[in-house]
Amino acid sequence: MKGKIQWNLNWHFCEGFSADRAAAGDLAGMEAIHLPHQVKTLTYNCFSHNDTQMLSTYAKHFTLSQEDAGKRIVVEFDGVMTYFDLYVNGALVGSHKGGYSRSRFEISSFVHPGNNHLYLMVDSRERDDIPPFGCVIDYLTFGGVYRDVNLYLLETAFLSDVLFRYHMTGAHSAQVYPEFYVDNSGSAFTGTICCQVVSRDGTPLTQFQQEVAIPEGRSSVQLDPNDVDNIRRWDPDDPNMYVVRVCLKQGDATLDTIEDDIGFRSVECRADGLFVNGRRIVVVGMDRHQSYPYIGYSIGRRAQRADADLLKQYGMNTVRTSHYMQSQYFLDRCDEIGMLVFEEIPGWQHIGDESFKQVVLQDVRSMIVTDFNHPGIFIWGVRINESLDDDDLYLRTNELAHQLDPSRSTGGVRCYKNSHLLEDVYTMNDFCHAERPGLKHFLLNQQQVTGLPYKVPYLVSEYMGHTYPTKQFDNESLRDEHARRHAEILGRNLIKPDSMGAIGWCAFDYNTHGDYGAGDKICYHGIFDMFRIPKYAAYVYRSQKDPSEEVILQPASGFSRGEKALYGIMPFLVMTNCDYIEVFMYGKSLGLFFPSDKFFGLPHPPIEVDVDVEAQWNDVWQDGKIVGYLNQKPVAEYAFLRDPHLDGFTVVQDDQEISSSEVDTARFEVSFVDQIGHVCTFYNGVLQIETQGDIELIGPKFLAPAGGRIAFWVKSVPTGKDSTATVTVKAPALPYPDQVFQLHLKKDL
Ligand code: GAL
Repeated sequence: MKGKIQWNLNWHFCEGFSADRAAAGDLAGMEAIHLPHQVKTLTYNCFSHNDTQMLSTYAKHFTLSQEDAGKRIVVEFDGVMTYFDLYVNGALVGSHKGGYSRSRFEISSFVHPGNNHLYLMVDSRERDDIPPFGCVIDYLTFGGVYRDVNLYLLETAFLSDVLFRYHMTGAHSAQVYPEFYVDNSGSAFTGTICCQVVSRDGTPLTQFQQEVAIPEGRSSVQLDPNDVDNIRRWDPDDPNMYVVRVCLKQGDATLDTIEDDIGFRSVECRADGLFVNGRRIVVVGMDRHQSYPYIGYSIGRRAQRADADLLKQYGMNTVRTSHYMQSQYFLDRCDEIGMLVFEEIPGWQHIGDESFKQVVLQDVRSMIVTDFNHPGIFIWGVRINESLDDDDLYLRTNELAHQLDPSRSTGGVRCYKNSHLLEDVYTMNDFCHAERPGLKHFLLNQQQVTGLPYKVPYLVSEYMGHTYPTKQFDNESLRDEHARRHAEILGRNLIKPDSMGAIGWCAFDYNTHGDYGAGDKICYHGIFDMFRIPKYAAYVYRSQKDPSEEVILQPASGFSRGEKALYGIMPFLVMTNCDYIEVFMYGKSLGLFFPSDKFFGLPHPPIEVDVDVEAQWNDVWQDGKIVGYLNQKPVAEYAFLRDPHLDGFTVVQDDQEISSSEVDTARFEVSFVDQIGHVCTFYNGVLQIETQGDIELIGPKFLAPAGGRIAFWVKSVPTGKDSTATVTVKAPALPYPDQVFQLHLKKDL
């Protein structure tokens, strides 16, 4: 659909809803806002899970020229939690159920030249008729218009979606037969569809065109197959993308154009593993909730992309969008960096009545039509996470998914054995390491799970999570054990012959209900905290990289003799991809230490240091260090002090330039550090953040670190102008100088 106008700016908001207000176009008492937006900003933790459950009003006043008012006008909502009614100039246009699916409404017959107004009645209560609600759920869904809203000005006939269908016929060739959804409010006609595929630098790959009969109303048109050669495939190791541009013509007049990013690859989910372009890839991944501190889901492009980059940096090749469809920006970035994606429909354990099931089916359709072209997506999750078998429903979801997309496998996540396999891949949340404490932290063999006398494509969709919640500021023994368990399961995953791989629970700590979590509305299940700061466990994954990419030397210890139960720091783990390490303590070398034999399957098992040091509890604790060696040469060093004390704070500014034409964000990470830059994990003093210029702080102005560190985001106030803002970070109770950062706001970015 051409003529897309991002419609995120200049809305109004208030709690509650009155039809009279919507009819009159009344803005009195409403707050001026921009999107994305959440109905209420929360505290980091310890809020009520009911705080965002409410009815609310979003309003937009807009003007149409005579010419624009004569067009077909479509408004598109990328995500509104959880339900909304749309009113234009007081008339009810339609409504939408489901907070994670895209919806579109044609408003042409409701508008006129001049001033118009659009009101949304948003219901962010947990309604029984909409997944994931109806019972309990272990995550918060927040509420509001939390993704983009777009406006389209269109001709009589337009292309609403392109599903770029193809199959590979060789390593560099494919047969392509794209399908288009056309919406024609005029009479039937014979048109032409022109299709062009170019590389991202604009080099043409192919182009073809075909005459097509366009009937009245909504229809789908599938082009005849075309052979394409000289393709550079999309691959996790070389994520080459193309752009497809399509136009619909009637005679010489171009009625519409549509453009999307695509990639060519083959994916097979087989009983002997996952094969991408014929090469076996063991899935190493994390489940991701899309929430952030204070503002829940309501954050835009830059932060979404950064999450994908972070997972990649820490060694993941896969992410599961648990438990719903996620932001286009996140999925786009996954494609660009070669990340595989298991996307799934919303839901959590509970299946409701037939009206609920209708929303489930709508979600399947929406997920596939919206996200079809992402090469990274390799599984459609068409079962409500961990719901009981419901063959009637899941035969329908599978059938619909296969009909919309015969090229991809379906999966359906369960947490129990012997479930009916209606999907292509048996996807299982395997928490066996918790159920059988005598056993080490391994994964079940697939046939123990499926109960089937033969092997099937099998994927572990969750492990760890609630079995070992760990806070950034927990006792070191817990943080060390958290890392060990991840290491044991990751190792088993890498050598398990009967599965496609395993995805861990989960990437980031997340806000939840009082029914779950640590009692403060947070599930501390992440290998990163909510601020996207890594825990020790994250380094288990990052240290599996080849050292030619980067050398990792991260001890799971703060080197203090009184932190663990009893005394001393032994045993402790060092997550590293060095060949071996040498440890110096009490003024001497304790010798060389090698990768531990406790962690099978890892290319770079953590090194465990566990020796009787000739020193007593009452000896003077001394400085020390760990030196990492590769090919017998020292390549990394991690020093530690007898008397580490607070010596300042460091601030890392992730983003130097952000857009002033939309609400963009910049992230800053602050660490309280000792004399040699190590984080003072248990320092909990106060930070004060001040901003100047066209930016606003997201969250509170006074912050206390959690685990010696914390991050914050600022957002641009969209002025559409170039300017420079400043962010000042102060530690008001400490003698350290304020740190001042410049942030450039650009209108064209
Ligand atoms: C799973 C569930 C996840 C999360 C996780 C915690 O059973 O699918 O959503 O609650 O447990 O470990």
